[in-house]
Amino acid sequence: MLLNASGCLDALTAPDVARSLDAFVTKTVTLEPRDGNTPVRIAETDVGMLNSIGLANPGIDRFLTRNLPPLAKLDVPVWVSVGGFAADEYAELCLRLDDHEEVRAVELNVSCPNVESPAETTAEIVGAARLATRKPLWAKLSAAVPDIAEVARAAQEAGAYGLSLINTVRGLALDERTLRPTLGPAIGGLSGPALKPVALAAVYVCHRATGMPIVGMGGVQTGRDALELVAAGARHVALGTVLFADPDAPPRVRAELEDELAARGYSDLDEVYAAAHAEALSTAAT
Ligand SMILES: Cc1cc2nc3c(=O)[nH]c(=O)nc-3n(C[C@H](O)[C@H](O)[C@H](O)COP(=O)(O)O)c2cc1C
Repeated sequence: MLLNASGCLDALTAPDVARSLDAFVTKTVTLEPRDGNTPVRIAETDVGMLNSIGLANPGIDRFLTRNLPPLAKLDVPVWVSVGGFAADEYAELCLRLDDHEEVRAVELNVSCPNVESPAETTAEIVGAARLATRKPLWAKLSAAVPDIAEVARAAQEAGAYGLSLINTVRGLALDERTLRPTLGPAIGGLSGPALKPVALAAVYVCHRATGMPIVGMGGVQTGRDALELVAAGARHVALGTVLFADPDAPPRVRAELEDELAARGYSDLDEVYAAAHAEALSTAAT
């Protein structure tokens, strides 16, 4: 499946782009509306993009009454990304979504690099969400933790169905002239090409640690990038920053992926799934 990364596509202003995906993932929704951070919120760097949107969103009430009904009409499965500041907030959000048949899955944005024990916090959040909804739960993790595999295992044990890997990592851009931070809040989330090796490593170790279904994302620009994430252990791939520059990326990446498979003599993407682990696994088996 090809999806968008949360926050990188507004399906209501670009419905055709959303329809070119296998599922649409919403921007993270919180219980209360949030205005987000002070501008400037986006900056370019040599290796990707910095953003400090700050989870700007209309809040769950308005999301359910205003956003979800038109999203449901797009004829694309909708995954809702939710975020909060405590486990009970995630649970409340999941409860509010549970009755909505049009919501296919919930992505828990648990990318919390600042907490002392990310594994424990993730387990708490996933566990609380698990009790609140029957929907499949995808835990979206940050790679900016000491051991992402440990966090992935904690999410699995707490009842997550899959993992979304990875969220942005913290970065800073300075204005060329003033040497002051370009973004309003100074530090932002780095996305785009620089993230690809980080995402590959996260997918690789989390696949080995859990064997869970993984949506791989981080710097995907081409079919080759998507192929590599699948080889590292991702079942699905999401497009993020690339969608800002190239709204036609979904059909292009699909076509490039087909070409990559054909050029390597594969007939099906399944043959590439977790190929990066093949040797190590066969060694382990002997
Ligand atoms: C402008 C922008 C907004 C984002 N908003 C969210 C968000 O609301 N929730 C979330 O989980 N991730 C958010 N992300 C992170 C992306 O979903 C994705 O994990 C990250 O950008 C890596 O993928 P990419 O390098 O292909 O962009 C955002 C990224 C960008 C660039």
